[in-house]
Amino acid sequence: MAAVFSSRLTSSLVLLFLFLSISEAKEIVVGGKEYAWKIPSSESDSLNNWAANSRFRIGDSLVWKYDGGKDSVLQVTKEAYASCNISAPIAVYKDGNTKLKLEKSGPFYFISGAKGHCEQGQKLVVVVLSPRHRYTGISPAPSPAEIEGPAVAPTSYGSGLKAGFLVTLFGLGLVLVLF
Ligand SMILES: *[C@@H]1O[C@H](CO)[C@@H](O)[C@H](O)[C@H]1NC(C)=O
Repeated sequence: MAAVFSSRLTSSLVLLFLFLSISEAKEIVVGGKEYAWKIPSSESDSLNNWAANSRFRIGDSLVWKYDGGKDSVLQVTKEAYASCNISAPIAVYKDGNTKLKLEKSGPFYFISGAKGHCEQGQKLVVVVLSPRHRYTGISPAPSPAEIEGPAVAPTSYGSGLKAGFLVTLFGLGLVLVLF
């Protein structure tokens, strides 16, 4: 009986890990919907407010949908992010349907390339969790030094953690149903 239980437990764990790794790489639409890449109408509408409630991991891709004729996405340094300097971006995207894979952990800074938009809050910091925090459930808030600028900075991964926990619960539930 104990042996049966332990082999069940082993296959359950294997399945659970499979489930977790399948659910791992995601395409994340910036702002949670199409055409959210725009000047926010209020601070609570800002993309950084959205980012604070999302969870970004290595391998995930960010997707921006916008009018490529009027706007663009600039990946910039922390300094250029803070000062809304659009003159020397790391990368420029203006195809209207921009997909960018997050290849490493740490902060990524984006501002609008449309004149005056960044100053009005069309900017985004995404902090990608480091791999060692992937399965532990421990995701520290980014240090204030990592994030600067007038826009709302992500301060908590509370709901991201909760979502991860729910995914895990769902995975466990699936395993129990299957066996
Ligand atoms: C913007 O960045 C460029 C390149 O780093 C720099 O030469 C320029 O002085 C900056 N402009 C402002 C207004 O800070």
